[in-house]
Amino acid sequence: METFTIEGGRPLSGTLRIQGAKNAALPILAAAVLAEGQFHIYDAPHLKDIEVMIEILSALGAKAVHADGCVSLDTTSISVTHVPDDLMGQMRSSIFLMGPLLARFGEVTISRPGGCAIGERRIDLHLSGLSALGAKIEEVEGYITFRATQLRGTNIFLSFPSVGATENIMMAAVYAKGTTRICNAAREPEIVDLQNFLNAMGARIRGAGTDTIEIDGVSSLRAVSYRVIPDRIVTGTHMLAAGIAQGHIELTNTIPEHLTALIEVVRSCGVEIKTHHDIMEIKSTARPNAIDRIITSPFPGFPTDLQAQMMVFLAQARGTSVIKETVFEGRFKHVNELARMGASIYVDLGTAFIRGVDRLSGAAVEATDLRAGAALVLAGLGAEGTTVVEEVCHIDRGYERLDWQLQQLGANIVRKT
Ligand code: UD1
Repeated sequence: METFTIEGGRPLSGTLRIQGAKNAALPILAAAVLAEGQFHIYDAPHLKDIEVMIEILSALGAKAVHADGCVSLDTTSISVTHVPDDLMGQMRSSIFLMGPLLARFGEVTISRPGGCAIGERRIDLHLSGLSALGAKIEEVEGYITFRATQLRGTNIFLSFPSVGATENIMMAAVYAKGTTRICNAAREPEIVDLQNFLNAMGARIRGAGTDTIEIDGVSSLRAVSYRVIPDRIVTGTHMLAAGIAQGHIELTNTIPEHLTALIEVVRSCGVEIKTHHDIMEIKSTARPNAIDRIITSPFPGFPTDLQAQMMVFLAQARGTSVIKETVFEGRFKHVNELARMGASIYVDLGTAFIRGVDRLSGAAVEATDLRAGAALVLAGLGAEGTTVVEEVCHIDRGYERLDWQLQQLGANIVRKT
C-alpha cells in the first residue's frame, strides 16, 4: 500500500504544466472504435483509468501503445463486442463503450457497472437514451445487451444533464439515420472536446457547450490525430493548493474559461489570480476569507470534482463557509478525515458548514476516493507537522503522479511503498 508523507507549512513556488484531461481522454478513446484505422491521441494522461480503457480496447481487438503521453491506437481489427467483465468492474467509464460499439457493430454486451464510493451512480439515462435511438435492450443476470440494425435520430430530453449519458448518446447517434437532438444536455468542456474529436473524424455535430446538441447521422468516419484538452480539475486542485499552502505559482497548458466558477470564488476569498492565454498565475500571502455559500452543480456551476479541495481551502479561512453538494450524494467522506486534522466541519442534509480554524495539524488520514484523496494532500500542505495519506491508489486514478507535480512546485511530499 503506497502512502504520501507531507511536511506542511512550506509555501509553493514554481511552474507546472497541467496534464491532459482524464475525463476528456476516456470518452475520446472509446469513440475511436467508431472508425477503422490508426489514431494518435496526444496528452492522454498516464493514469490507471486510461490504462484500463486501453486494456479494454485491446481485449476488443485493437492494437494500442501508450508512450510519452500519446496513445497510438489501431482499431482496424476490432471484432469483439462484449466488454470483458473484470475490466468493466475496474472502471465505471467502460460504459462509454456502449454507444460507440452499438453504433459501429449493431450490438454490445456489458455487465452492469457496480456502485462507487461517492454514491449511487445510475445509468438509466444512458439506457433510455440508447433505447430512444432504437436499441433493443435486454438484461439477463447482470449482463446488458443492446442490439439495433439501424439506429434512428430522434429528440431526447435528459431529466438531468448527465455528462456520461450526453457523451454516450452523442457517440451512438453519429451513425443514426437522420438527426438526433439532445435537450438539457450537459455543457461540460469535455463534451465540447468530444464533439471536436468526432467532427475531426467526419461526424456532423453542433451545439456542444450549450444545452442542445444536434447530431446529423453520417455513413462513415475516419481515424485522426487529436490533442486532448488540459485537465480543469487538476488545474483547480493546484490553484487551491497555492491558496492553502500560500506562495506564488504559475500553471501552463490551462484554459481559464473552464474554471470561471472556481476563479470567481477563490478571488473573492482574497487569492490573486492572473490569466494570460493558457497561463495562470496564482498568488496567496494570507489566510483566505470565508465565503457565504457554494453550491455544486453541472457546468458552468461549481464543479463537484473540486468540492473536497475547496472545503480544505475554507477549513483554514477566516470565518464560516457553507458548501452544498447537489450532484453526488455521499461525497463528504473527506470530512471525517479532515476532523482528524483539526478541521471544524458539520454536515447536515448534503450541506457542510465549515468554521475556519487558524491552522490544521498533520495526522494519518485515508484517501477514500479520488478527489477526497487529493483534498487530503492539500490539507497536508497547509497543516502544521507531518501528514500521512494512505490509499493513494485512489489519487493515482486522476492525477499523473500528484507527488511529482507538487514537488515541481516546491512541496515537501514523498511517496512511500
Ligand atoms: C462525470 C465525470 C465525473 C464528475 C461528474 C459530474 C467522467 C469520466 N466523470 O461523471 O468526474 O464528477 O461527471 O461532473 O467524465 N445520473 C443518473 N442517471 C444516469 C447518469 C447519471 O441519475 O444515467 C446522476 C448520477 O447519479 C449523479 C448525476 O447524475 O448524481 C451526475 O452524473 P453524471 O453527470 O452522469 O456523471 P458521470 O458522467 O458519471
